[in-house]
Amino acid sequence: MFLILVLVLCLMTGDMAMADLKEKMSMKVPTMEAKDFSYLFDNLEGFSEKQLSQHNELYEKYVGKVNEINGRLTNADVMSANQNYSEFRSLKVELAHNLNGAILHELYFSNLTPDYQDPPEELVEMIKQDFASWNDYIEDLRATGMASRAGWAVTGYNYRDGKIYNFIIDQHDLHVPAYVRPVMVMDTWEHAFMIDYGIDKKGYIKAFFANADWNVMLQRLKSALQTDDLLEKSTI
Ligand SMILES: [Fe+2]
Repeated sequence: MFLILVLVLCLMTGDMAMADLKEKMSMKVPTMEAKDFSYLFDNLEGFSEKQLSQHNELYEKYVGKVNEINGRLTNADVMSANQNYSEFRSLKVELAHNLNGAILHELYFSNLTPDYQDPPEELVEMIKQDFASWNDYIEDLRATGMASRAGWAVTGYNYRDGKIYNFIIDQHDLHVPAYVRPVMVMDTWEHAFMIDYGIDKKGYIKAFFANADWNVMLQRLKSALQTDDLLEKSTI
């Protein structure tokens, strides 16, 4: 009788803990809103309105999926989470894919501009600390873009060693380097250029560079350096 009572109490306590956990999680569901990039649609040299507006639609779908997945996570069964197959695992995996998909697209569209300007000297000097020359940096980023699959070529500031590297991210969530902040982002998924360039990825990358906003890259780098000071003072 005593054992049965203990068992009932454990089950009740477990249910209450589960309910508490779900309540806490449901109060903190993050919501993401798509940004407006329509100002780019008919304004970029070498990109059609159709190419950019359809690309933007894909971005908005990633944002929608982030919200959907976060909502579903509030009701997912956390007690059955496991590494082989579980709804909880699937949602977490897809959250990384869609969240990175949304964020990388925001960084990409934000570092394109209808008013191209040559890279500011301050940025060129920063790049020359880690590359032999500005042209070497551009060539490395171009090659990174050519070598990336359906994914991304990313210039990132590495907080670990304070240096700038170009990285490949395949899909949205494969080979993502830890401790790195993206400062220039090139989409290399075919959907980014297929309408205007077919399979001519080289032609697309050339057009990307002709519209790259180097001032945005400089601002991101400066912001990374400010955060770097904070990190140095922290205990991590
Ligand atoms: Fe894309």
